[in-house]
Amino acid sequence: IYQQKQDDYELMAQISRFFQQQLKVSTDKDTAIKYLKGRGLSGEIVKRFGIGYISDAWDGMMNSFSRNGQANQQLIDLGMAVAGDKKRPYDRFRGRIMFPISDKRGRVIGFGGRVLGDAKPKYLNSPETRIYHKGQELYGLHEAKQANKKLKRLVVVEGYMDVVALAQHGVDYAVASLGTATTFEQLQTLFRTVPNVVCCYDGDRAGRDAAWRAMDNALPLIRDGFSLKFVFLPDGEDPDSLIRAQGQQAFEKILDNAMPLSKFLFEQLMQQVDMSSLEGRAALVESFQPFLAKLPDSILKDAMINEIANNFGTGSEQFLAKFTKHIKGGL
Ligand code: UTP
Ligand code: MN
Ligand code: MN
Ligand code: MN
Ligand code: MN
Repeated sequence: IYQQKQDDYELMAQISRFFQQQLKVSTDKDTAIKYLKGRGLSGEIVKRFGIGYISDAWDGMMNSFSRNGQANQQLIDLGMAVAGDKKRPYDRFRGRIMFPISDKRGRVIGFGGRVLGDAKPKYLNSPETRIYHKGQELYGLHEAKQANKKLKRLVVVEGYMDVVALAQHGVDYAVASLGTATTFEQLQTLFRTVPNVVCCYDGDRAGRDAAWRAMDNALPLIRDGFSLKFVFLPDGEDPDSLIRAQGQQAFEKILDNAMPLSKFLFEQLMQQVDMSSLEGRAALVESFQPFLAKLPDSILKDAMINEIANNFGTGSEQFLAKFTKHIKGGL
């Protein structure tokens, strides 16, 4: 099994080099280069992220990598070829800009491929394979570690292009969660790497929902000294469009002013009740319970309990004692 994995990583590295080379030798390389330039990317950044290209054909990659039945099966297993019902397996990725996804040790384990126009799907991603488990990986983490001797914070964004565009503008500490929601496993990896994490998802409904789910997933990991914050971009913007329009300084200022997890939680829960009635305030107090129950004991947790008791409860000693018991008991 160990040997097979070594072979898998080696093959994925070879395919990644092949895609990068296609950016230099394909007959339609100019279209791909023009696309990358149009998105504001320099040759240096394209190289740093190992971005490549594959022309629109059924056997662009297979022509170079299909040798025998065993090799074909490995390519299918790694998600690079599709068995289909044809005689020969064919390329999964066709006519796309190729973003290699590395694990934190820098080994290529999968790819995301973007169409150059507006065909659907916009991005095609590697399926889960024996070496690629998408809920556990973070796109750009290896590159961020390479670019920074000592990482102070990490920014989590939604997309490949967000990570690359931020690096292009000097924000070389962004990672993408490779799907809509940032998982508990991904947040665990983030907090093992840095104490400060800022989520900066797209300014749309999906982005706001993703922030809420990330907050919920992160609660068990928020110990003293660790912070998760949120940036809410204007509707229609994403980190790529924003940094291109406003530059590094403005973007980093937005990160500096990100909303702390506690404020996000308070604001969201308050929106759901009628704060002018006692009933509404009682419901609010109640609604904090499942979230506080997930937080490990910390100074922040005690501060949040006090804040709730003082602002929405009676503020009395009896109330505080009862409420604290309620949270701990999970009633
Ligand atoms: P977005 O639709 O916000 O795309 O999806 P984007 O990253 O801003 O891409 P550009 O700027 O149009 O090139 C965010 C992320 O969701 C995943 C990808 O990881 C994408 O980066 N996604 C989106 C897919 O996997 N498939 C899709 O068809 C669309
Ligand atoms: Mn898996
Ligand atoms: Mn979006
Ligand atoms: Mn986007
Ligand atoms: Mn975008």
